[in-house]
Amino acid sequence: MLVNALADTFEISALDARKSEHAPDVPTLIADGSDYDSMSKAFAGIDAVVHLAANAPVETPWPDVLKNNISATHNVYEAARQNGVKRVIFASSNHAVGNFEMDEPYSKIRVGDYEGLTPGGFKMIDHTVPVRPDSDYGVSKVFGEATGRYYHEHFGLEVACLRIGTVNPQNSPKGPQARPEGSVRTLATWLSHRDLTQLVTQCITQPLGFEIFYGVSDNTWRFWDTDHAKKTVGYAPLDNGEDYR
Ligand SMILES: NC(=O)c1ccc[n+]([C@@H]2O[C@H](COP(=O)([O-])OP(=O)(O)OC[C@H]3O[C@@H](n4cnc5c(N)ncnc54)[C@H](O)[C@@H]3O)[C@@H](O)[C@H]2O)c1
Repeated sequence: MLVNALADTFEISALDARKSEHAPDVPTLIADGSDYDSMSKAFAGIDAVVHLAANAPVETPWPDVLKNNISATHNVYEAARQNGVKRVIFASSNHAVGNFEMDEPYSKIRVGDYEGLTPGGFKMIDHTVPVRPDSDYGVSKVFGEATGRYYHEHFGLEVACLRIGTVNPQNSPKGPQARPEGSVRTLATWLSHRDLTQLVTQCITQPLGFEIFYGVSDNTWRFWDTDHAKKTVGYAPLDNGEDYR
């Protein structure tokens, strides 16, 4: 979805470990991100990399996390540096801070218990909170953020880490849910396709140092901050999961 949307504005090439039946019609290198020699060929002449490749399920076992999320992510930063790429947009995850959802009010909102709460009337989880990963997968996203900061501070790479909420092919908070609490949580965590596209586009085109942003639509019950992304790169989300309740 994102490649197709970005291809309206940018000249795109892609890399993936496998050829997808849904693959967009852009030049694509089939290579394993954990194999530096084969994957780094894709980085020559590139201005900005949007790094999405990973095992995305939060339950991903450690050997796969290590290979596809950690080693491959280090390779992305190193290949960017070696090839003079200016900017990396890293698909981090809300799971880098997922254990905040053990605490109130987030633990209540995620299951739809809004008693005594008003939308936005509590502290938003923002880019300044300590990391609190909820899984090996979450740990891998913290690694990707820390590596991004290192490559920014030591090598001048511009980096945006997007703690993405919930994106699905249905483009709806009512899409099939992996989690038992289902779509109630997703009303708060949903990121629509056009808001994702806008956020990534802003991160590619606006001035940037090293930043952490939350990838979430303007959901009534969101508990992640969007002000920092708004102030820094002008992210102005257009969608609200509440419209689907
Ligand atoms: N979808 C969401 O709600 C969500 C939320 C938070 C973060 N994210 C992150 O966004 C990114 C994209 O998520 P998605 O939902 O599109 O996942 P996806 O599983 O649909 O796509 C991931 C892609 O990465 C590729 N890949 C995996 N390992 C690779 C490797 N070693 N080398 C090359 N390619 C490899 C896969 O082949 C696949 O095409 C992931 O990094 C995920 O962790 C997604």
